[in-house]
Amino acid sequence: MEARETLINLKNLSIDLINSDVDSDSVKNIIDEIHNYFREVTEISGYCSDVKNMVTLPATNGMALSINHAAQCLLDYKRTYKFLKGFIKAIEDKQKKYPNETIQIFYAGCGPYAPFVTLVAPLFTPQEVQFSLLEINKNSLEKAEALIENLKLTDYIRACYLADATTFHLDQPKSYHILFSETLDALLYRECYVSILWNLVPQLSPEVTVIPENVKVDLFFKEKSKETFKTTIFDVKKEVAFSELHLSFPEQFESVRVDLTQADKYDRIVLATEVQVYKELLLERNESSLTLTLEMEIEKPIVNKAVLFTYHTKPNMELKFTLEK
Ligand SMILES: C[S@@+](CC[C@H](N)C(=O)[O-])C[C@H]1O[C@@H](n2cnc3c(N)ncnc32)[C@H](O)[C@@H]1O
Repeated sequence: MEARETLINLKNLSIDLINSDVDSDSVKNIIDEIHNYFREVTEISGYCSDVKNMVTLPATNGMALSINHAAQCLLDYKRTYKFLKGFIKAIEDKQKKYPNETIQIFYAGCGPYAPFVTLVAPLFTPQEVQFSLLEINKNSLEKAEALIENLKLTDYIRACYLADATTFHLDQPKSYHILFSETLDALLYRECYVSILWNLVPQLSPEVTVIPENVKVDLFFKEKSKETFKTTIFDVKKEVAFSELHLSFPEQFESVRVDLTQADKYDRIVLATEVQVYKELLLERNESSLTLTLEMEIEKPIVNKAVLFTYHTKPNMELKFTLEK
């Protein structure tokens, strides 16, 4: 297929995708068709058993997924659909707010398909949007660059960086309108979203929109199938607001204490990750790998007064709990 024809086709697929109903078969069908094309060009399917495609990379703070896993993210259908929809809406909102400006996007962690360039750029002109891409995985960045070239989208690219977003110093940080970084997993486990925001947000203008806008881990008590919200264990936006230029990344964040003295009537504790993609657009529970819940049984009789949850960043980024006697 000619490059121009491919691009028109991709643009149409993108438009059809965002106009589809989230629960319709067309979301899966369209993304599968896009994946087939990306797979052909990059020779990365996400399922190749070659060891070099399965290696995770340590960042200064957190871990980066293997190129296989990064490619597979495209096929997390509702995630891709909602991020695409939210991201396009964010660009359109910025265009309304800054009508005479080129909207500058910093994309931290593009993976081998850079879907939030390759599916988004064709909907705009290079005068309307410019992307700066950053990726820690050399192989991923090279594949993304090859795909962008194949799709004739290079006019939309301001810069490409092979670097760790948890320590990277932005060039002209105040020029950006949007920071996009889907570098997270359920319960904020291992990946770098928190540390990337901790590093980049203080460098950027306070007007910048971050996509996803926020991620929270909430705790519910469950009695049979009825859930009662108890508290938020970790709120990324709230924590990142404490970050300042040159302030090092904390080894752990402040613990949240959950009282258990009145918890007898409940059977389970549920930890749920809420991903606010953009404004009212949320990734609902269990509709993506990012929002899988964790349930823990409450053992009776309850002998502990409370449970303390702490988000640790060393040696790994993960939520841990301890019981209080
Ligand atoms: C979950 S994948 C998402 C890929 C693609 N953006 C998408 O949404 O389909 C996250 C990507 O971010 C990259 N990444 C993770 N941590 C990073 C870091 N600290 N600096 C730069 N890139 C990072 C990974 O290598 C991976 O390619």
